[in-house]
Amino acid sequence: MSQLRPFLLLLAAGLLAQLPARGTDRAEVPYPNGYRHWTFLHSSMVSSTFGPFKNKPCVNPCTAGIFYFYANERAMRGLRTGSYPEGAVLAEEMLEFIGTGGKEGERRIVGVMVKDSRRYAATGGWGYGNYDSGSRTNTLDAKAQDECYQCHLKRRDHGYVFSEYRER
Ligand code: HEC
Repeated sequence: MSQLRPFLLLLAAGLLAQLPARGTDRAEVPYPNGYRHWTFLHSSMVSSTFGPFKNKPCVNPCTAGIFYFYANERAMRGLRTGSYPEGAVLAEEMLEFIGTGGKEGERRIVGVMVKDSRRYAATGGWGYGNYDSGSRTNTLDAKAQDECYQCHLKRRDHGYVFSEYRER
């Protein structure tokens, strides 16, 4: 056994090194599967020159973009109480807005905020993700996520969330 011990220690160290470092591995934010079944919050328009269009410019007949915002059940609890439980997720999707008549076009991006206070401690307890349409891979590295956080900081008193829920 005494001869085996150094070997076991090495094996354990090797296995630990393969685990993602908790709290540092911030690019990993899960895609919001099924977000279209969540509570719809509101929509908002952006112009065709809006930043995320730059990769693939929004041109005629696409005159603008439209965002839709959704909240899962835990995020709804946060919107009602001001305190967001672990596992709360808010999702936004942006679609092209076609022509002056105003029809939805292609979906361009899905954006997300996922509450996990330990994992995303460096960005106020929320992980920020962005997915090109059809992809489940977060395009945001830690620096880009920090840029999201810097603006969402304005809403620190509201759990870093801009949206509000209005019953109608
Ligand atoms: C310059 C400020 C700013 C930056 C940078 C920013 N956001 Fe936001 N975000 C907002 C505002 C304002 C809203 C509310 C928009 C609305 O209601 O139309 C919002 C809403 C959201 C929402 C819906 C939840 C909420 O807070 O209302 C998500 C999800 C989101 N942003 C994700 C992101 C991600 C991901 C990034 C980084 C890629 C990001 N945001 C960068 C200002 C910002």
